[in-house]
Parts: sequence; structure tokens; C-alpha cells
Amino acid sequence: MITRHGKPAGVLIGFESEEDWFDYRLEHDPRFVRRIEQARSSLRAGHGVRLEDLGMVVTGEVTRPFAPAPVSIAFRTAAQICAASGLPATRSSSMGSSAIVRWYAFGTVHDHGRAHLLDVAGPMTEEKIIMKAIVVTDQAAGTAGMKLVERPEPQAAINDVVVRVHASGWVPTELEWPSTWTDRLFHDRTPSIPGHELSGVVTALGYGTRGLWVGQRVFGLTDWYRDGTLAEYVAVEARNLAPLPRDVDFTVGASLPISGLTAWQGLFDHGRLQAGQSVLVHGAAGAVGSIVTQLAREAGAYVIGTGRAADRQTVLDFGAKEFVDLGNDVLEDVGGVDLVFDAIGGDIGKRSAGLVRAGGTLLAIVAPPEARPADGLAVDFVVEADGAQLGEIVQRVRDGRLRTIIDNIPTLDHAVAAFNRTERRKGKMIIRVRP
Ligand SMILES: NC(=O)c1ccc[n+]([C@@H]2O[C@H](COP(=O)([O-])OP(=O)(O)OC[C@H]3O[C@@H](n4cnc5c(N)ncnc54)[C@H](OP(=O)(O)O)[C@@H]3O)[C@@H](O)[C@H]2O)c1
Repeated sequence: MITRHGKPAGVLIGFESEEDWFDYRLEHDPRFVRRIEQARSSLRAGHGVRLEDLGMVVTGEVTRPFAPAPVSIAFRTAAQICAASGLPATRSSSMGSSAIVRWYAFGTVHDHGRAHLLDVAGPMTEEKIIMKAIVVTDQAAGTAGMKLVERPEPQAAINDVVVRVHASGWVPTELEWPSTWTDRLFHDRTPSIPGHELSGVVTALGYGTRGLWVGQRVFGLTDWYRDGTLAEYVAVEARNLAPLPRDVDFTVGASLPISGLTAWQGLFDHGRLQAGQSVLVHGAAGAVGSIVTQLAREAGAYVIGTGRAADRQTVLDFGAKEFVDLGNDVLEDVGGVDLVFDAIGGDIGKRSAGLVRAGGTLLAIVAPPEARPADGLAVDFVVEADGAQLGEIVQRVRDGRLRTIIDNIPTLDHAVAAFNRTERRKGKMIIRVRP
């Protein structure tokens, strides 16, 4: 039996498609009508219902029951039902990807077996389905203002998928980003759900969505201005995701999108790194810096990492040839380098402009650079979603060329406490949303 949050779960039943002929066919299909009538009487009589007595999955022109076990569920879409029952949401090619758009709720079934009827049959609305999520409402409060609450599950808009989040990545500076608080028109969008890295399983496809399927393992980066991944479900544009191979754990998958893509795009798109060049990586033991160090080393660069004294061995283990302890060593002793990848900013970034050789580049990811190389480029950029690059990154994780260090992994229930911890983190913070 499937229940969520220990609360009564709802029940389906029926479906609606984008294609009129299909609805028409169902409405006039005596088997379907009979099943629905039986389900309603069963619910009225206070009995449970069996999914197999109610639902059908569409496979081309035929319909079939889709689960052998009695279940009570509160899923909004056929796709979610299929994902939960482990079945693919099969569709005929003639129906495209949008054949099944909505399941109808006729009643609710409690996990102890009692049933209630909803007033009328109709599409389940967002408000009827809730999920756990962490929200922020008060920028001044910082992480102390984060709260675990119940929110409506998101729905898949055009070209979206809904993903059941298994793990979410967290960047400690997220609460300083304007997009956490406002939409693109600079209107307040709180309460907003932070978190923009995810791994999980697709449970629903929006209209027109291509390239992903229900039940697929995915990982990726969500839009800065939309509700994010510290939630049980998230709606995300399909193009922002990539398949997560079966042999890569969800927690590892969630540690890659922001850090991995930032490192990749900085080194190869903006920095145009070539084998034999030298790269100075500030914050080389951090989430971004550790991936920069490994990718640059793999690309044949000479890597100098910087950070705190305690990070020396970690940075060398990631492949740096030298380490600069920013608390005790003199940064300027590094001499000239072809590329500076600055994940610290402030004074460190400013002083680094003078270390860039003629024709070299200073890459700034924390804030626009305060100083520029005399005869080189200064580039500041914000990471963008890129499925192909995620594929390259995850392949390196699979074959051992790339690894991430992950801190303790709290559950969603314990994440707020973990965000408010005072001791130093030892790696990327990942929240296990689905145990
Ligand atoms: N523009 C973009 O697209 C983009 C993308 C990703 C991240 N970012 C930004 O990049 C920064 C780094 O992100 P991250 O996820 O890699 O963070 P992180 O995991 O905390 O890494 C930062 C590393 O730098 C070290 N560090 C910071 N200040 C230092 C100092 N003064 N001296 C020596 N070491 C210092 C940190 O050590 P401690 O942990 O001891 O402080 C940590 O090892 C953040 O500001 C983030 O917002 C920007």
C-alpha cells in the first residue's frame, strides 16, 4: 500500500487525453464506464478499491489494467501512477508524448482501508496534493528562516517534467542570490523553495515534452527563478536535465550539476583551456574548485590549488601539483599563470588579476571581477544548464576520472538543522529527499 506522510491518500480514477477521439472512445467504452461505476459504489460502501479494478494504461489502441496489487494512492497524473507501480507510461507513437494528461479523482481511500467520496468526479487540483518542501520567506533571517512546510505539488508546464526528487544539492550562498527572492520581473516570489540541483525520477511529462520518459532517472540544474529542489517534487524544463546512469548514486548525481557545469564551462567554454597551460584554482577543496582541479588536470594543465591550510592534502589528492595556503603563503609567489579560476572572490580575486599572463584569463564566479589582467581577459559568468556537458561529467564519475566529496547527508526533515550547523562543512552538502 502506498501512502505518503502517513496521511490518507487519494484515488484516481479515469483519465483525460489531449486527443478527443481517445476521450470519446473511453467514454463510450463499456468496460471503462463499468469499472468507474464499480469503483464509485465500492467507495460509497466504505470499501477499499483495487487499482486493477480501476485504472487502465493506454498502449496504442488497447487498454489494460496496470497493477496487480491493492493500492491506495494520491497521484495526480497517469504518469505518476505508472512510475509508482513500476510500469512505464506506455504511449502509442500516434498519441505523441501528451496522450494522457490527467487522472480524475473520484474518491479518497485511507491507508487504514476506509474510504470517502469526493463531491464530484473531476480533475485533481494542485491544492489536493501536498508535498514536503523547505521554503524561505525572510532574506534577513538567513538559514535560520528556512522552514519545512507542506506545499502543493508542482505541475508540469509546457516542455516541463515533474521529477520526484531523490537528492538535492545545496550551495551555501543561495540565500544571497536575488533569484531566490524575486521573479524575473523583480516581484517578490516568496515563499520560495531553494535548491537548484537535483537527481530523481521523472513522474510526469508536460505538454510537448520530448527526450525524457516517465520512470527515467535524471539529474540536472533547475531554473534559478522557479521553485527548486528542496522538495519532494519539482517541475523543471526537460532540457535542463540529463539521464542519470543506474550505477551512479542519486546523492552523487545531485552533487554534480552546479559544481560540474560551472567547472566545465569555466575551463572549456570561457577559459578555452589547452593542454600544457597553467591554472590557478582558488577554493580548490570546495565543491566547484575540486572539480575544476580534476578536469584541468585531466585536460593536461599544470594546476595550482589554493585554500585553507587544512585543505592542502585534499587539493593535492585531486590532482593539483602545488598548493597555496592563503592564510600563510604569499599568493604573488605563484608567478604568472594562463588561467585563474576564482571561486573565492573579494581580495583574492583582485590580487589574482596581476598573476594572469599576457593572453590569459581571469574567471570570476563569485562576483564581477574588481580588477582585470593588464593584457588578458576577465570573464564573469553564471553557470547554465547543459545536458551534453552533464553527460560528459557523469561519464567521468563512472569511470573514476572525477569524484566529489560529499558532507554528511541529512534527510529533508533534518535539512534545516543541517543548514544551521556552525561547524565547517567537509564537502558538498546534499539532502537525501527520498530515503
Ligand atoms: N557563477 C556561478 O555560476 C557559480 C556557480 C557555482 C558557485 N558559485 C559561487 O562560487 C563560490 C564557491 O562555491 P562552492 O559551491 O564551490 O563553495 P564551497 O564548496 O564552499 O567552496 C569554496 C571553497 O573556498 C574556500 N575558501 C573560501 N574563502 C576562503 C579564504 N578566504 N581563504 C581560503 N579558502 C577559502 C572554502 O573553504 P571554507 O569552507 O573553509 O570556507 C571552500 O573550500 C560561491 O560563492 C558560489 O556562490 C558561482
